[in-house]
Amino acid sequence: NNGYSNNVRLASPSSTTTSESPEIDWDNLGFSIVPTDYMYSMKCAQGENFTNGQLQCFGNIELSPSAGILNYGQGLFEGLKAYRKHDGKILLFRPEENALRLRMGAERMCMPAPSVEQFVEAVKQTVLANKNWIPPPGKGSLYIRPLLLGSGAVLGLAPAPEYTFLVYVSPVGNYFKEGLAPINLIVETDVHRATPGGTGGVKTIGNYAAVLKAQKAAKSNGYSDVLYLDSIHKKYLEEVSSCNIFIIKGNVISTPEIAGTILPGITRKSIIDVACNQGFQVEERLVTVDELLDADEVFCTGTAVVVSPVGSVTYLGKRVTFGKEGVGRVSRQLHSALTSLQMGLTEDKMGWVVEL
Ligand code: COI
Repeated sequence: NNGYSNNVRLASPSSTTTSESPEIDWDNLGFSIVPTDYMYSMKCAQGENFTNGQLQCFGNIELSPSAGILNYGQGLFEGLKAYRKHDGKILLFRPEENALRLRMGAERMCMPAPSVEQFVEAVKQTVLANKNWIPPPGKGSLYIRPLLLGSGAVLGLAPAPEYTFLVYVSPVGNYFKEGLAPINLIVETDVHRATPGGTGGVKTIGNYAAVLKAQKAAKSNGYSDVLYLDSIHKKYLEEVSSCNIFIIKGNVISTPEIAGTILPGITRKSIIDVACNQGFQVEERLVTVDELLDADEVFCTGTAVVVSPVGSVTYLGKRVTFGKEGVGRVSRQLHSALTSLQMGLTEDKMGWVVEL
């Protein structure tokens, strides 16, 4: 068990799954790959623009062993979700924000990127082609994974001569095996996720491979995940392996500022606006580990984790717990406000939801 909720099973393993009737146990979706019917693919040469994107059957892709992504990690990914509403409509949440973030990352990684319009169109087409894989309302979502990769062959270190943009999808439920129950984090003091001037602020694939060792050790010691500190002072909060972090003290909600080493999460940004609209004071600034240990509530945000309450943090062998009765009041309130918007249960006054 890798620590993620991972319960999905075909209701009848021997049956053929088709787009007409995916035989999924919707009540037990976890966060693991379920192959769906179609993916989107679009290519371009270095220095040119992406053109001629199209849907194709979901399946393996062919790459040269010397592809830029395989040899030098020239790759970026994104994550967003589609929800099914009771009236049958399909909702995306702020897809143009993912497009903009991918473009920002592409600039850092010397890659051409699809335009915002091309990105959103690719996401829409992929979701609609796989619409029967979107879980019923309240059962989960369709996780959308856009990938931008250096697919051309290189040997000397250089940007790849060709790039591929792919979009695939998978139905998902909760990210952590804890579900919505509070997670337990360990603060890592030796290993760092990012350094100033590095690539911590973009969604490049290497940022995620770099945390696997610490994450694996944490999980084998019973923790849900790792919280990283800044690499210079080793006292300011950065982020968790797969999500941003927030602390609550009284009416003030604080989160580490975006300064190059932290991923600019779209859920992070949305929760800041939701919390401000609800009358909280929100501060983006340096947040110390001492403040974390003294917080009333702590929660994480991310597309995959949504809003995930933190039940305990362990720092230098000392375990501090938050919220005596499970999920804290403010974390619950913010989770509910955000997910109601994403699922189309409350009016979208922010213009964030895109209906398909
Ligand atoms: C997401 O939340 O969408 C991410 O990309 C994090 C990933 C590790 C699942």
